Amino acid sequence: MTIASAPGKIILFGEHAVVYGRPALAAPVTQVHADVEITASDRPGAWIHAPGISLHSELNSLSSDHPIASVIHNFFFLARVSPPANLSIHISSTIPVASGLGSGAAVTVALVRALALHFNFPMTDEEINAFAYEIEKIHHGTPSGIDNTVVTYAKPVYFVRGQPIETFTVGLPFTIVIGDTGIPAPTKESVGDVRKLWEADKAKWERVFDQIGMIVKEAREKIESGRWKDLGGLMNDNHTLLQEMTVSSPELDRLVEAARKAGAAGAKLSGGGRGGNMIALVQPSEAEAVVRSLKETGAKNVIVTQIG
Ligand code: MEV
Repeated sequence: MTIASAPGKIILFGEHAVVYGRPALAAPVTQVHADVEITASDRPGAWIHAPGISLHSELNSLSSDHPIASVIHNFFFLARVSPPANLSIHISSTIPVASGLGSGAAVTVALVRALALHFNFPMTDEEINAFAYEIEKIHHGTPSGIDNTVVTYAKPVYFVRGQPIETFTVGLPFTIVIGDTGIPAPTKESVGDVRKLWEADKAKWERVFDQIGMIVKEAREKIESGRWKDLGGLMNDNHTLLQEMTVSSPELDRLVEAARKAGAAGAKLSGGGRGGNMIALVQPSEAEAVVRSLKETGAKNVIVTQIG
């Protein structure tokens, strides 16, 4: 039996602008994870069991662009596995789907890691990351690659599209509350809509992306020097720019507002937006009040996590 796992992720600063070459900061969220277990079986074929999405199917009965099937087919092609051995592949995940926590990337990474172990086909993190990026491209249009990178390396990342991975240090750990609107984040659509805005007025949106890039650089400095309390204002500024980009939503804005009123130092949406998650920066002693307020305001799920 082989098992592998990958964590969720959260974008702290810089989503969307990161697609246009600006930096972004993201970190793993280890409280939630995708897990894959592969066992050899007597039954012919590769059987996939993902009870969370009610999937119990043989690989070849799924269309080749199915997110899970495409990972397995691509792996079999890469590792020259033919014909597939008899397998039972069990996939589970505690990462809410389409919430901005990188559930798709985490399932891909955990699955390819488990397959590589099972078939004794060693893959480096770099190779896993490149593989997961190809899969992200099939399902998400023009992804920057930030999700698969954070999930693969499971480290805080200062990410610039197309550049080698760069992690950042956390001078003093800080606490983030993650609130889920419960509305699926249509990331492909929001990324596409930002592209339409950009195509209609490149000069304007390049300026906005530059402003976000500056926020990200300043945030990195504050995080590295342990001045995390100063991140609150930067989060609020980043959220305002995301609102301008039309990727927030009334539900996200309500949660962001509720967190600020309950004492958070700052708050913003996180990930693709229009649904999914928001994050709030809190003193550990204020976390409980912010969690309560987010739940009262309609958050479907709340996670408290420490960065660093
Ligand atoms: C999605 O988690 C983050 C976005 O910036 C898209 C991307 O970077 O691919 C919205």
